[in-house]
Amino acid sequence: MDILDIIRKKRDGEELSAEEIKFLIKGYSEGTIPDYQMAAFLMAVFFRKLSVEETVVLTEAMRDSGEIADLSDVKGFKVDKHSTGGVGDKTTLIAAPVASACGVPVAKMSGRGLGFTGGTVDKLEAIPGFRISLSREDFANQVNTAGIAVIGQSEKIAIADKKIYALRDVTGTVENTGLITSSIMSKKLASGSDGILLDVKWGKGAFMKTEEEAAELAQWMVDIGNKAGKKTMAVITDMNQPLGKAVGNSLEVAEAIEVLKGKGPEDITELSVFLAGMMISMSLNVSSEEGISRAKNAIQRGSALEKFREFVRMQGGNPEVADNPELMGKAMLCRNITADSDGYVSEIDAMKIGIASRHTGAGREKKGDSINLNAGVLLEKKRTDMVKKGDVLCRVYGDSEEKLEAAASICAEAFEIEKEKPCERQLIKDIIGR
Ligand code: URA
Repeated sequence: MDILDIIRKKRDGEELSAEEIKFLIKGYSEGTIPDYQMAAFLMAVFFRKLSVEETVVLTEAMRDSGEIADLSDVKGFKVDKHSTGGVGDKTTLIAAPVASACGVPVAKMSGRGLGFTGGTVDKLEAIPGFRISLSREDFANQVNTAGIAVIGQSEKIAIADKKIYALRDVTGTVENTGLITSSIMSKKLASGSDGILLDVKWGKGAFMKTEEEAAELAQWMVDIGNKAGKKTMAVITDMNQPLGKAVGNSLEVAEAIEVLKGKGPEDITELSVFLAGMMISMSLNVSSEEGISRAKNAIQRGSALEKFREFVRMQGGNPEVADNPELMGKAMLCRNITADSDGYVSEIDAMKIGIASRHTGAGREKKGDSINLNAGVLLEKKRTDMVKKGDVLCRVYGDSEEKLEAAASICAEAFEIEKEKPCERQLIKDIIGR
């Protein structure tokens, strides 16, 4: 088999055979196919697309390029929740302890933030002392005793995806349904859970810009998950404006704690309760309405916050952050962005806020960059809020004047103000695979 024939075939819009796809992934993982040929192949896929059949084979080949986690010693039906990436998306910090407080075993592997999107691992590291790596044995023991453990994604899982994702990131080939499906699902199928709950985002702050593209991606991922024997569901959600008000690591942990106390912003509360409800429904085999009702109860009666404290303590973190988030530290500098006219906030561009947050030092440009865990953006106004000229729209936090300058001007561009109050937008658009 020849790599050049495979590239040419895809370039000309032809369907690849299973053998060709397996040859490509094996060769690239082992280093016999160089980056430049893989990059050419990815660009051909970007323009010519992959069929569902090709995507299934690609996903399986990528899954098999690394270890498959065995969580059979963790009791109960384990559901993995995964978001396709967003801005201010701290739902795992909330949905995981809520679901665990309701009896769902949460054995989760999470990633770090890259580009304009955040990652759960960075957020958890904002908690003093928190350990994101546990031995395989400690991980299983903690889920069996405390009902919850969250660790960083193993480097050994879906090795081909790590190489391919890094290459896509620098060749403009991220936004493609087949490539995103295979990237996410290869990792999810290797992660040892019994069920997969996907939060597929659409809008300005998501890879998928339209609801239709998000629905297609969701359907492909659900079909592949179910075909591989994992109960899989997807929720399509709006990512046009940031979720909640906090964007940046310690700021987001503090907001998640507010949600667990029943005092968080409406949108992040609604989505987190919904996702926790779906996890409960999938794991405990109850209706989604019953799952959501149990999730709400866990917040109301304080058991979700208690579970969060226990989870933090078990992983070496200081559980007192739940009562005093300032223990996570504070940025040295703050700059306010104010409204330049009266009216209503009609848009807050999530992508721009995500980029501004990265400029404060809260995110990384490339893998391995160090970040400022206390930097970020705090929205004071959300879409549809009324504002008067001079009102603070958002605050930008960081430790460098220069970085705040850059972040502040992007934040100012992210807000649009109109005279008329805009209509409300639905946050949760659809559920696929219920
Ligand atoms: N997240 C992933 O893991 N892969 C993608 O391709 C996009 C988002």
